[in-house]
Amino acid sequence: MSKRNSTIRGVVAIDGPAGSGKSTVAKLLAERLGYIYIDSGAMYRAVAYRVMQAGLAVEKDTAEIGRLSGELVFEFRPTAPGQHLFVDGEDVEAAIRTPEVGNLSSPVSAIPEVREHLVAAQRRMAARGGVVMEGRDIGTVVLPDADLKVFLTATAGERARRRWVQLQEQGIIEDYEQVLRDQIKRDQRDSSRAVAPLCKAEDARELASDDLSPEEIVTMLEGWLKQSLSKGDKS
Ligand code: DC
Repeated sequence: MSKRNSTIRGVVAIDGPAGSGKSTVAKLLAERLGYIYIDSGAMYRAVAYRVMQAGLAVEKDTAEIGRLSGELVFEFRPTAPGQHLFVDGEDVEAAIRTPEVGNLSSPVSAIPEVREHLVAAQRRMAARGGVVMEGRDIGTVVLPDADLKVFLTATAGERARRRWVQLQEQGIIEDYEQVLRDQIKRDQRDSSRAVAPLCKAEDARELASDDLSPEEIVTMLEGWLKQSLSKGDKS
């Protein structure tokens, strides 16, 4: 690795459907590289949470929700372990992880004005490099010039199983079949919406996570990032 490479703070975009393993992989990769980890989905969830708190309805209060999303101040603060999302100084981490907020975040994230505000905030967070950002449109819309773009997939059954385990760990007891149904509905909505639908960037590397451990995936990603940064060094 050249001297310049050792100081380059790269940008990594990881996209994929819910339960593809992207959060685990993105967190672990950021930890290994000493990069900042940004969970863009948490920001859409936080808007949904505020929508719920304000008693707004997605179908009729679209303009109000768009305006509200532009006024929120997002901040990821490190905690031991991991990090929590703070909105306007309030720790919303636990509140945004409920199935209700998860379900509402999908229609909320389809509102163009919400996306505009959140994409702008996400770009500001990534402006200094040294970032691993995960979501649905990071490689296609938010950070199209990322040094490494990965599209992580897994079968629907495996993704629902992971989500179910995660909810159990958080003390949220849900029926597996219900988790699977919610997920399929959310995937369909996220993939078919008009603005920034979930899709693989043309130049993203696609990886199926079913039979790989997070550590194995992260090691692959680290190698790809190194390759990409050293190529950039020659140009
Ligand atoms: O990854 P997640 O389940 O926490 O995401 C919550 C919702 O936000 C999900 O319905 C998809 C949406 N989302 C999005 O539209 N764009 C992103 N970059 C991240 C999430």
